[in-house]
Amino acid sequence: MCGIAGAVAQRDVAEILIEGLRRLEYRGYDSAGVAVINGGELQRTRRVGKVQELSAAIESEPLAGGTGIAHTRWATHGEPNQSNAHPHISTDTIAVVHNGIIENHVKLREMLKGLGYCFSSDTDTEVICHLVHHELKSHSSLLAAVQATVKQLEGAYGTVVIDKTDNERMIVARSGSPLVIGYGLGEHFVASDQLALLPVTRSFAFLEEGDVAEVTRREVNIFDVDGNAVTREIKESEVTHDAGDKGEYRHYMLKEIYEQPRALAHTLDGRIAAGQVLDSAFGDNATKLLKDIKHVQIIACGTSYHAGMAARYWLEDWAGVSCNVEIASEFRYRKSHLFPNSLLVTISQSGETADTLAALRLAKEMGYKATMTICNAPGSSLVRESDMAYMMKAGAEIGVASTKAFTVQLAGLLMLTAVVGRNNGMDEGLQAQITQSLQSMPAKVEQALGLDDAIAELAEDFADKHHALFLGRGDQYPIAMEGALKLKEISYIHAEAYASGELKHGPLALIDADMPVIVVAPNNELLEKLKSNVEEVRARGGLMYVFADRDAQFESDDTMKVIPVPHCDEFMAALIYTIPMQLLSYHVALIKGTDVDQPRNLAKSVTVE
Ligand code: F6R
Repeated sequence: MCGIAGAVAQRDVAEILIEGLRRLEYRGYDSAGVAVINGGELQRTRRVGKVQELSAAIESEPLAGGTGIAHTRWATHGEPNQSNAHPHISTDTIAVVHNGIIENHVKLREMLKGLGYCFSSDTDTEVICHLVHHELKSHSSLLAAVQATVKQLEGAYGTVVIDKTDNERMIVARSGSPLVIGYGLGEHFVASDQLALLPVTRSFAFLEEGDVAEVTRREVNIFDVDGNAVTREIKESEVTHDAGDKGEYRHYMLKEIYEQPRALAHTLDGRIAAGQVLDSAFGDNATKLLKDIKHVQIIACGTSYHAGMAARYWLEDWAGVSCNVEIASEFRYRKSHLFPNSLLVTISQSGETADTLAALRLAKEMGYKATMTICNAPGSSLVRESDMAYMMKAGAEIGVASTKAFTVQLAGLLMLTAVVGRNNGMDEGLQAQITQSLQSMPAKVEQALGLDDAIAELAEDFADKHHALFLGRGDQYPIAMEGALKLKEISYIHAEAYASGELKHGPLALIDADMPVIVVAPNNELLEKLKSNVEEVRARGGLMYVFADRDAQFESDDTMKVIPVPHCDEFMAALIYTIPMQLLSYHVALIKGTDVDQPRNLAKSVTVE
């Protein structure tokens, strides 16, 4: 979603800001802009489309100046055009960038119009800059004006404000939309994601909800929601990823698919000893907080939700606790029942998904025994606000379609199953089997990646298709859902997933030669049932692509292509069958020529509702 970069420095900052925006491109956006203060004047350049177009515009008309702000916009209020692109400017004096949504913008707009302000965009953001301009008339500093402004805002914001009459500072404010301050030598930066600032600093402090900060070249002064001066810990970033580096790969998505063995090895590192998953994988308090857990409520969105759905089978079957899984946007707006000794688990690659964060906050109010997040972003809101965190250590994921984050989430959830199960009397043999399975995942995934060429060939069959159906049973049903989501996201083919036992309750009516049916078929106790479902499809003239264990005894014929998947145990089957689903969607998207890493209309980190 929208991205922010800002700087106060002695050198010209336009290039730094543009590079920051490039590093945020993966989040999804439709226009971009930058404004700097130069010789007491605001200079602004905005473009619809890619950051490259903004960069080219600045190359032909350079922007000089040491204080500036920049933004990539993902349209919410107002179409993606140049006048709606940020930064927005009030009365040629105040410039603002903003992530989030101002819910009371209509009321504020009317009030500001009444005061004589003219609006030049359809955005909710523009109210912020006029409001700051208005408040400056009765406040002695930009800081005080911004503090007075944010008190009037309802909704979510991460915002940065500069004033052309004061090129020494920027004011940043956070509520519901993350902002991180980057500390340099004699210069300071701000961004919505630390990735944006890695070329200029590795020292970061994350603002907390309600914080407003005054950032100058020499100082950063942070104030909490009540206006008290506070300190926020400055940490050295552990993120090593160079967002500009796709290496030998054509797309980040492919790179990230191939990074999975390494990401899995990394996530397991130091978390298993003496054949057991260590409680400490989930943080220092885990031994105490996980002790009496009898029920697990999992909350997530999208791909992360699918990981949670798979884990439900494991927690109930192997760990012996009841488990519910719900989409965050549903959970947060309904009354749900709280079971005794319940653990709330959020799953999120970004750690900033607005609905998941709201669900966590609601759960805390409801009185869950403990909260945990399975998350890939250190310092993110979900990590900071949860009692426990399983840090995924998958490395930054840049492709909008989540791949390595999903498989690492599955590994983390299998570890959770082992730990919760141990506290509920799981026998040692089962614990050892799970542990062994975890340890052999990286090598097995490597084998599964060997399917790449065969899948690339198969993908040709999908090039002219408009629909596809994915089928699975048990913990492969969520994998079928994930396969369908990946195909939708990056190839724009309509795809649906069904638990194959549901076929005859409706979807069978869709089957014909134009509807490819993708089946995930490991060799488990549901195999015979799945085979019956496959026959139901065959009898109706459907074309099937069956990803099957070599012992499952499927044979290719005119109506069915069988793709043998490396043999694997039941603990890792969901994870292993995910790999061909990822590769299939990738190759179909390549053939269709879509923007694989930044598919249309989508954002990497969904920080608004
Ligand atoms: C799909 C995808 C999304 C995310 C969802 C939740 O490929 O990436 O469905 O999984 O937006 O995001 P996180 O995990 O960051 O909470």
